[in-house]
Amino acid sequence: MASVQIDLGDIQGDILRAYGNDYDNTTYAFVKIECPPEQARAWFHGVVDHVTTAETWPPGEKPLTTLNVAVTAPGLRALGVSEDVVGSFSREFRAGMSSRSELLGDVGPSDPNSWEPGLGTGDAHVLLTINAKQAADHQRALGKMKEAMDAVGGLRIVYQEDTELLPGAREHFGYSDGFAQPAIEGASDDKARGGGVPLKDGKWRALAAGEFILGYPDEDTRVDPKKRLPNAPAAPLGRSGTYMVWRKLYQDIALWRRVMRDAAKLYEGGDEHLLSAKVVGRWTNGAPLVKYPDEEPRGYDPKTAEDVNDFRYDGDVDGMRCPLGAHIRRSNPRDALAAVAGPKGVIGFDGHLSFRHRMIRRGMPYGRVLPEGVTEDDGVDRGLVFVSFQGSISRQFEGVQVQWLNAGNIFGLGHDKDFLLGDPHGTGKMTIQGKPPFFLAPQEVFVRTRGGEYLFVPGMTALAALADGTAG
Ligand code: HEM
Repeated sequence: MASVQIDLGDIQGDILRAYGNDYDNTTYAFVKIECPPEQARAWFHGVVDHVTTAETWPPGEKPLTTLNVAVTAPGLRALGVSEDVVGSFSREFRAGMSSRSELLGDVGPSDPNSWEPGLGTGDAHVLLTINAKQAADHQRALGKMKEAMDAVGGLRIVYQEDTELLPGAREHFGYSDGFAQPAIEGASDDKARGGGVPLKDGKWRALAAGEFILGYPDEDTRVDPKKRLPNAPAAPLGRSGTYMVWRKLYQDIALWRRVMRDAAKLYEGGDEHLLSAKVVGRWTNGAPLVKYPDEEPRGYDPKTAEDVNDFRYDGDVDGMRCPLGAHIRRSNPRDALAAVAGPKGVIGFDGHLSFRHRMIRRGMPYGRVLPEGVTEDDGVDRGLVFVSFQGSISRQFEGVQVQWLNAGNIFGLGHDKDFLLGDPHGTGKMTIQGKPPFFLAPQEVFVRTRGGEYLFVPGMTALAALADGTAG
């Protein structure tokens, strides 16, 4: 397929390409519209004028702050969008994340009844995301937002999360995070090796843009003789938009450390570092286990290392290097489900379309770090604000969460679950392939959902239509 031309000026920023690690601070503010739609649109108009697009910045001209906007289904209604048009959005988006709790495994300590106030209740209408290079710029941008809201009236922030990048772009368990991203045709073709679709001949190709940005050909379009585009909301909302998943995931670091410390006493000469890496599928510095199975390579930098994503699992069909149930192997099996093992290694692909479940991740850690070596909880709220962008929440985010992280069947792992996140039902052990294999016993969950929303990130034309009241 010929490379598509992507209209970067019509797409919001931080989706196709990350703003980058020099934006240390991110605030997510969920706004409730408590005024009539016309009044809300007057405010929205002012906001839209400041939204950052996907256009590239000339060298040295990165703005001090960026602004992006997303809306929930109740938010579309509060802006005056008709039921007919709201009905053209995907079913799961309209239903909202909290209504999908059983499916997603948000039960027990993650049940929406104990989520943060303002999340999952229908009160969160518009999400404003502000990125800033420095805390001072951040406060200034936020202050302006609040002033604009007060000037109009009838608008209230119902939930706000302030996040800050941790040193070395690590998440709270201590692992480098965020660098494995899908390669997208017309936007990041150069990242196809490791980021795209693994092909039989050892080559890779980038994913069709419509997997992530609505209004563009997706992977179905590629094989459709009629070249139909994927489902999208009614015009003008469908073009250049994407669906967003926002989840506040609390991480119990003290529990994780105690569990790994105690389990390691029985594992390979007490190697806790290796055991934890087996759970993730990477060493703390990001080096993939499938390439570096025995020890963490010194001085490895995931931002520059060429092999950080350029790998497959075809040389590790039995999971002896990277366990079959490791977090990164479950969440992106690459060729692992497709590689059929024969007596002389991999003999072919059997039609698994794992690449249809990719997502763009833009999470940020929140909360203070638990000092190294501490194994008792200090009561601080800390974790990851998980953010993903995709063309279909059900096929991409929910597919991964439900079929790959919360279940073991497809990997031939029975009741095993993703051990990093944990299993609220308490049955999820982890099998670490080896001679002999090692089993991590089911634990209390390390990660709890504290709230979340399914959102839509409109393109720039769509944002203007929402502000003008011409979205239908
Ligand atoms: C607190 C919860 C979580 C933590 C601490 C966490 C941590 C990590 C880490 C350390 C990596 C490796 C770095 C990288 O590849 O960029 C990773 C990769 C990844 N995670 Fe998570 N994760 C969490 C939740 C989730 C959830 C809920 C999903 C999806 C539903 C997910 C999907 C992925 C994907 C798709 C990758 C990339 C794998 C690849 O392309 O090789 N993660 N995660």
